[in-house]
Amino acid sequence: MADRGLFITFEGIEGSGKTSQIRRLGERLLRLGQRVVVTREPGGCPIADDIRRILLHPDSSALVPRAELLLYAAARAQHVEEVIRPGLAGGAIVLCDRFTDATLAYQGGGRGLDRTLITELNTLATSGILPDLTLLLDLPAADGLLRAHARNEALALHEEGRFEAEHLDFHCRVRQGYLDLALATPRFAVIDATGTRATVEAQIDHVVAQRFGLRVRP
Ligand code: TMP
Repeated sequence: MADRGLFITFEGIEGSGKTSQIRRLGERLLRLGQRVVVTREPGGCPIADDIRRILLHPDSSALVPRAELLLYAAARAQHVEEVIRPGLAGGAIVLCDRFTDATLAYQGGGRGLDRTLITELNTLATSGILPDLTLLLDLPAADGLLRAHARNEALALHEEGRFEAEHLDFHCRVRQGYLDLALATPRFAVIDATGTRATVEAQIDHVVAQRFGLRVRP
């Protein structure tokens, strides 16, 4: 980690458990004495958080796929400049809940938009910053949706349900989009997210130790 930190992204369908796993990995890395930035997309800074509200609110059902794609790209461009690039330049381990691969899986796999175009937009939005490791938390779409609906009820997240309201078919295409990306992209590691929180955590720690020599487990 001489002149740049590490960039690790978490991906997966709704209800895959990314958000709690990213927070817990952040805590373990902090205990190792690492500098850690935990962030998310869409969001992570005030302007991108405003765009997140438009993107995820159930009232935005009139949003057409191309406008949706451009809003994700706009939020990302702002987030990269305000949070990710400075974090990496300062030598931190930046943990990001979703990044460019989500746009390929959701707007490409889910909505059917052209993946070459999405890749070009991703490059524009990130100015070429790529993750060092992408952890794909994988589970069947129906299981993930059940978990996501239960979480949204429990946390009263009624303002963020636009994607959870999509049909199962949509989520199956997103999952397949992620699995295709993982097969084609060496920086991916696929984590079986069907088990308990502890078994998922152990798999993540194993990959982080293997790839970067960071012994997160005591
Ligand atoms: P999350 O914070 O619960 O993961 O919600 C973000 C939602 O936005 C989720 O349904 C996936 C979706 N999304 C996209 O469709 N494209 C993207 O590029 C990103 C980052 C997220």
